Amino acid sequence: MCHGQKLKTAMIDKTCLLTGATGGIGSAIAKLLSEQGSILLLVGRDANKLKKLKAAVGEKHITIQADIASESGRTRVVEVCKQLDQGVDVLINNAGIGQFDLFEQMTEELIAQIITINLTSTLLLTHSLLPLLQQQAKAQIINIGSTFGSIGFPGSSVYCASKFGLRGYSEALRRELMDSDVSVQYFAPRATKTAINTAATEAMNKALGSTMDDPAKVAKHVLSFMQTHNRQYFVGWPEKLFVRLNGLLPGLVEKSIVKQLEKIKHYLAAAKNNAPN
Ligand SMILES: NC(=O)c1ccc[n+]([C@@H]2O[C@H](COP(=O)([O-])OP(=O)(O)OC[C@H]3O[C@@H](n4cnc5c(N)ncnc54)[C@H](OP(=O)(O)O)[C@@H]3O)[C@@H](O)[C@H]2O)c1
Repeated sequence: MCHGQKLKTAMIDKTCLLTGATGGIGSAIAKLLSEQGSILLLVGRDANKLKKLKAAVGEKHITIQADIASESGRTRVVEVCKQLDQGVDVLINNAGIGQFDLFEQMTEELIAQIITINLTSTLLLTHSLLPLLQQQAKAQIINIGSTFGSIGFPGSSVYCASKFGLRGYSEALRRELMDSDVSVQYFAPRATKTAINTAATEAMNKALGSTMDDPAKVAKHVLSFMQTHNRQYFVGWPEKLFVRLNGLLPGLVEKSIVKQLEKIKHYLAAAKNNAPN
């Protein structure tokens, strides 16, 4: 991992498009990239949050109010990028929504929404931006996945489907573009203290002894990872080990998760009971 001065020179004058910029991890990434000298295109749906973010990171940055789940939103993002003389060097696909529900209790709408935002919209936005990225001398796509993109977890079935999909897509696109100047990398945070997690999720993590990272720490890892050519990065220990173990010996990881199932279902039920009707 490289920190500090090394990062500074590497990110100066890079133009980075960041989706989910107004969220916990996104705003922490934005802050660090701005400090390192990048020019940012900050994408989010909420105009007020974007305004506050811009005030915090610097007026030179560009905000784009867009819902990436809509065609018009994605078109708006692409149009702004096309107008930039310097083009876009880095695309960070970070926008996403979570899940803390038993699959059987989810509405069809919620199932579709998670797949649409976390996976389909991310792919479609990347597809539209790829011709612009290919015009650069060197470009980078960073897809923000999750530990749950490698380990299936109760109460996160659809979220897992979306992040497993994102990881597979990242691997395939990386290989497809290996003979080009566009690199593709996959970054997987573990549980992080942001608004994506409900109070019930936090309580469950505490009960299970799962560490929840500070978004500023996660952002540091993202920036360090961006300076490498590494295929993927998984935040945290023992998550790194469990990801490998789940690939090799899924039965072993399953046994340990099944031992926690009663506790997990307790917090899922508590979340359901407290949810507004
Ligand atoms: N926090 C964790 O525990 C954790 C763990 C592993 C991975 N991750 C991943 O990290 C990424 C960032 O999550 P976070 O924890 O920072 O969550 P967050 O604080 O809830 O932020 C989510 C961001 O995504 C944006 N977003 C959601 N739907 C969108 C849409 N349709 N169009 C445009 N923007 C949209 C939100 O923007 P607006 O609502 O302002 O529009 C917000 O900026 C996600 O991909 C998440 O899956 C998080």
